[in-house]
Amino acid sequence: MTGPRPHPNLWYPFTPVGSMATPLRVLRGEGSLLHLEDGRTLIDCISSWWVNLHGHGEPRIARAIHDQALTLEHVLFAGFTHRPAEELAERLVPHLPGALDRIFYSDDGSTAVEVALKIAAQFWRNRGRPRTAFLAFEGAYHGDTFGAMAVGSRSLFTAPFDSLLFEVEHLPFPERWLGDDEGGDQREEVVLREVERRLSEGPERYAGVLIEPLVQGAGGMRICSESFLRRLAQIVRKGGSLLLVDEVMTGFGRTGEWFASTRAGIEPDILCAAKGITGGFLPLAVTAVGEEVFGAFRGSDPDQALWHGHSYTANPIGCAAALASLTLLEEKEGAFRGMEAHHLRFLASLDPERTHRPRAIGTIAAFDLRTDGEPGYLHPSGRILRERALERGLLLRPLGPTVYLMPPYSLTDAERDRVYQTLLELIAD
Ligand SMILES: Cc1ncc(COP(=O)(O)O)c(C=O)c1O
Repeated sequence: MTGPRPHPNLWYPFTPVGSMATPLRVLRGEGSLLHLEDGRTLIDCISSWWVNLHGHGEPRIARAIHDQALTLEHVLFAGFTHRPAEELAERLVPHLPGALDRIFYSDDGSTAVEVALKIAAQFWRNRGRPRTAFLAFEGAYHGDTFGAMAVGSRSLFTAPFDSLLFEVEHLPFPERWLGDDEGGDQREEVVLREVERRLSEGPERYAGVLIEPLVQGAGGMRICSESFLRRLAQIVRKGGSLLLVDEVMTGFGRTGEWFASTRAGIEPDILCAAKGITGGFLPLAVTAVGEEVFGAFRGSDPDQALWHGHSYTANPIGCAAALASLTLLEEKEGAFRGMEAHHLRFLASLDPERTHRPRAIGTIAAFDLRTDGEPGYLHPSGRILRERALERGLLLRPLGPTVYLMPPYSLTDAERDRVYQTLLELIAD
């Protein structure tokens, strides 16, 4: 493959330096397409790490950014406020599940999760009954900062730091797929009983239960059932703990509804969102809570305040981008609602001899390649498919043998057909 060498002054993320492939230099993005310096054009089948919603270079977001930059590019967000942050909160709240009506801004998915964990822990401390334990799920990924790593599953990504992470109790994530085995209900039951048992045996122990609702992203696009999530929410409520949902990936239409929590009909206590919030233009994140949680922070005692913030908290340009993205989402809800039916038809056409565990929800479709050897993030099948797909004009980034699609909502019918057809050919190959 031709292209520039890795830049001598750059350190690329998630990349073993010694075996790094030559990175592809992107000149321009337009709709669902990326135009490369070497003349090729790729369909972005993964929304550039799941952030892009409306397509690259969406002019209405670009203009909103331009206008805001000329008006107020940034101001500290303590002791000062501004309309973009206020308006974004006002317009986000009606789309959030349940009674979440209080927005705390940060920078990205990891920081949104850090904030959620800190709010949960301090909530109990402020109420005079400190709790510090968290329940989370095996296979979870919540980001790369230390708190986010701690609540995530231990993995290749966390191995160098495992001894530095606070302990979190992880339970199996009862994944489902189309036509799954009869054990699915049983697996859900076991997990739910276990959550129930732990919460009742340690009623003052758990600050919160954290889950990626309906879909575990980086853990392999693993989907759980809506009824599992609903029952989990009931058990957490009954057990007197807080339900934290990490909607960093699932938010803003990815599961076919505004949020996965909305789709499942649950009312979490704390919700994290980031990635798609600005339509993929700028880093911005929110952690949302309702009055029940916020009430524990209302006091004037400095000891009860949430002492957390970032230089760019509530950056006005980021908020302006998010407002423009929200408008587009509101205008074109059909774009994220309509994709699931197409995905399901595509999955039904996959060769079951070569693939298994087909699954889809909203704008996400996934399946696993039938392969030899230990499945996992480093399984070579994913890398090979990624390289072949690039040759055929598709940007994919399989998670080991798990192949998934999560395209921007701008994907045209013709582009969608081309993606499906190319994938079928690649798998047959
Ligand atoms: C569910 C989930 N939470 C948190 C994160 C971390 O987000 P960020 O990479 O923006 O820090 C990710 C990133 O993939 C994610 O998928």
